[in-house]
Amino acid sequence: MERIRLQKYIAMCGVCSRRDAEELIKQGRVYVNGSKVEEMGLKITYEDKVEIDGNVISMEKKKYYIMMNKPTGVISAVSDDRGRKCVTDFIKGVDARLYPVGRLDYDTQGLILITNDGDFMQKLTHPSHEVWKTYEALVRGIPDQNDIKEFEQGLLLEDGMTLPCVLEVIGYEGKNAILEVMIREGRNRQVRRMLERINHPVIRLKRTKIASLELGDLKPGQWRFLNSEDFKALNMSDREQA
Ligand code: URA
Repeated sequence: MERIRLQKYIAMCGVCSRRDAEELIKQGRVYVNGSKVEEMGLKITYEDKVEIDGNVISMEKKKYYIMMNKPTGVISAVSDDRGRKCVTDFIKGVDARLYPVGRLDYDTQGLILITNDGDFMQKLTHPSHEVWKTYEALVRGIPDQNDIKEFEQGLLLEDGMTLPCVLEVIGYEGKNAILEVMIREGRNRQVRRMLERINHPVIRLKRTKIASLELGDLKPGQWRFLNSEDFKALNMSDREQA
């Protein structure tokens, strides 16, 4: 009988990415056939009963791939203990446990992907894939060539050096600049921290693109299913979608 790694199975069930599944296992929250999983490399069969926090998980056959324009004031999560609105609250009529792919800050607007396919999530969020994300940022002041060079070489943040990034001034609002920023990591508040570091703090931030997939004319709060062209723009082969 075919055996697969437990963390892969958890991702295939759409619970979370493989990496997050490893965390769940480490935290002792995963049980197989009633026993707590103590080893990381465990392989299981599709017949095994897998529970996370006491809930049995199963493979959802139908996969969904959604893009949304996240409004500001909404969190990139499926629930919030402080009762704030979550991205998945906007998705009506889809009968699946959906999760956002990566994070946008509460106060950031723009393109976010939502799915129940953990493998898709992993391909877009694992650091080794270095998927480029593009942002439009209104910042205080106007960065000069030195700032731009520094930014593009990579900056030293509290959590280490960033990979080289791209920064271009694309417009002005009074004494402030509108920038196009491209990064290929997904560190917490990375764009805000990098622009703060070059003394041009963010006033407004919007994600406009993931790989070559553009937000287009979706209004804040609107969403749609991905199509074949969109998968191409994400450098992925087409996926069957319910
Ligand atoms: N970088 C940020 O600072 N915030 C986001 O929401 C995304 C990237």
